[in-house]
Amino acid sequence: MNGAVVNITIKNNTIIDFENKSERIYACVKKCLVEEEIESLNVICDDVGYKTPNFTTSGIYCLHGIVRLQNSEDKPWSVIVKVIKPDSVEKNYAEHHNYWRREALVFNSGILNELPDFIKVARCFLVEELPDETIWIWMEHIEGEYAGTVEQFSFIARQLGRFNGAYITGDKALPRYDWLCKSWLKSWTTASRKYAPSVDTYVERLSNDDLRTIWAWYENLIRKLDIAIESLQRLPRVLAHQDLSQMNMLLVTSDNSTPQLLLIDWQFLSISGIGEDLGKMFGVNMSLGIIQPDHYDEFQTSLYNSYLEGLRTAGWQGDEKLVRYGFCLSMALRSVWEVPKYFSMLAQLETEPQNQNLKDRLYRLERIISIQKDMHTEVELMMPKLGFCTVH
Ligand SMILES: Nc1ncnc2c1ncn2[C@@H]1O[C@H](COP(=O)(O)OP(=O)(O)O)[C@@H](O)[C@H]1O
Ligand SMILES: [Mg+2]
Repeated sequence: MNGAVVNITIKNNTIIDFENKSERIYACVKKCLVEEEIESLNVICDDVGYKTPNFTTSGIYCLHGIVRLQNSEDKPWSVIVKVIKPDSVEKNYAEHHNYWRREALVFNSGILNELPDFIKVARCFLVEELPDETIWIWMEHIEGEYAGTVEQFSFIARQLGRFNGAYITGDKALPRYDWLCKSWLKSWTTASRKYAPSVDTYVERLSNDDLRTIWAWYENLIRKLDIAIESLQRLPRVLAHQDLSQMNMLLVTSDNSTPQLLLIDWQFLSISGIGEDLGKMFGVNMSLGIIQPDHYDEFQTSLYNSYLEGLRTAGWQGDEKLVRYGFCLSMALRSVWEVPKYFSMLAQLETEPQNQNLKDRLYRLERIISIQKDMHTEVELMMPKLGFCTVH
């Protein structure tokens, strides 16, 4: 430990063997404190209690405490350890949207240090591969605010437009690594179709006209899915996060300055089409119930306008239809998961007609699917105009 004798006490509230990691902890705290000399270190290890991990996330831990410096000053510190793990065999392949090693490779490559400076990231202290086939990512603990209002989401959409735009104008070069996902939605829709609930017997006996219309629309979308997915490759290419749910986007304010956007969770990092990140951001935050049904239209308009504004600020002068196309199609394709889910929940409602929570979720999903339908209609109208082929 740099030859210094440092007194370390560890109180471990997790099931992970952090007692064995005192050297690593010491090294991270030193990096946190920009190399100040440490006299003693007190460590508390907590599980952050994250309830909705990705399949490839085995745990998120917060290590924190007080450090006594050699000048007798006491300072608080904290570090996050994200432990990732392999999952099903398909996630061992780099082309998979959820390739299990991707986030570790992202941090190791230094790619995040090359992002435009208005996109902040957590500093990574160490990426450690363990014999038990897990990888531990030791990083800076970020304290920030989650977006809630349309203004905050629109601010993020604008930064996203600037971010994506930097790769189309040539201001930033697209990184070239085999482990970056190149067709994120192709992989995601394939996996979604494989794991979506089977609703064949339920839809066979549908009598409600509105529901039959939704199902017919969905079948038509699936019939033309490959063409839609291929068309995304014709959009201008950008570096895309592809997982902009509320909890992965933090607004951080330092020293009374204006908030800055800090992104975490780089597991889905991709080369994608313009507009895809925005479609994901709009769609996933509705699905998660962060954006409420009363605000769907307002958010849709404001997010799109802000993203476009960001692209223009980045200096991109291209055809706006391309942006609209990427936005609408990536949002519409979320129906590949959400339509089967909707029908399976309707089937569940038959056996639990009083389940109010289920009814609320169904109401939200119905509204989301209706937006997906409208956005898909827009896509179909734009396809010939953009010279992307279409079938009827
Ligand atoms: N560097 C960090 N600073 C603060 N909180 C973090 C950090 N990394 C992760 N977290 C917390 O843990 C949660 C899960 O981490 P994330 O990387 O998003 O995992 P997953 O890929 O499973 O979603 C985040 O939503 C956030 O609340
Ligand atoms: Mg996350």
